[in-house]
Amino acid sequence: MVQKSWKVFVGVVTGALFLMATVAFAAGAPDKADLSKYKGTKSAVSLDHKMHVDAKIPCATCHHKAKDGKTVACGECHKKDADGATPSIKDSFHKTCKGCHDKAKKDKADSKAPTKCGECHK
Ligand code: HEC
Ligand code: HEC
Ligand code: HEC
Ligand code: HEC
Repeated sequence: MVQKSWKVFVGVVTGALFLMATVAFAAGAPDKADLSKYKGTKSAVSLDHKMHVDAKIPCATCHHKAKDGKTVACGECHKKDADGATPSIKDSFHKTCKGCHDKAKKDKADSKAPTKCGECHK
């Protein structure tokens, strides 16, 4: 019995900490994400971060890996060239962003999700 209530206690505390971390974390989320640091030959893409968050896309859909429990720039792990199973920065964005947009277009033909080069690289 003692053991069980201890487990429940730990569960509640962990849950509360997690919730606090998520709120603190959301507070630091940018309205716009500037991706110009990854710019090469194509014009930099502007990500309306707030719009995507407001659309209730889970943080982890894009921030699929954290570092020390915090979101970090994709470029901390994804480099110019792929490294083993870690795709290049370009492929990591195209897979995440275009992947969902292609699906959104398939599900709803009049979706405003951009899928053409010039719609993202303006
Ligand atoms: C859904 C949005 C989206 C679409 C559509 C898209 N890209 Fe990108 N692309 C990005 C993002 C985001 C990055 C990484 C950040 C940046 O470069 O601003 C990127 C990076 C790149 C890069 C590497 C960086 C550079 O500037 O050289 C190239 C090259 C590129 N894209 C080419 C293309 C081409 C060609 C197409 C069409 C076949 C395309 N992209 C379609 C979002 C998109
Ligand atoms: C549609 C994809 C997407 C979603 C959903 C998303 N983000 Fe982001 N977020 C990004 C991208 C891309 C960047 C820029 C990363 C970079 O600079 O490499 C970013 C940047 C950030 C940053 C600033 C850079 C950093 O990591 O310190 C924070 C903080 C952040 N996001 C938090 C959140 C939180 C919290 C949520 C959920 C409430 C969330 N994001 C949802 C894509 C997303
Ligand atoms: C802490 C390191 C780290 C960060 C930060 C990170 N990634 Fe990754 N990512 C990886 C690794 C490692 C892989 C290789 C496969 C795996 O282990 O999941 C990967 C794989 C991927 C894949 C391929 C998944 C598949 O199923 O093919 C995509 C797409 C991707 N990352 C996009 C992103 C985007 C976009 C961001 C920023 C919003 C980001 N990653 C941030 C480490 C990271
Ligand atoms: C899980 C799904 C999902 C992911 C992941 C996602 N998007 Fe989107 N995005 C959408 C949807 C849905 C819309 C259209 C919203 C509407 O219909 O108004 C959209 C719209 C957009 C638009 C057009 C509206 C605007 O802000 O001008 C841009 C640009 C865009 N996304 C960029 C990106 C980039 C860059 C990434 C990757 C870092 C990304 N998106 C990742 C679902 C997604």
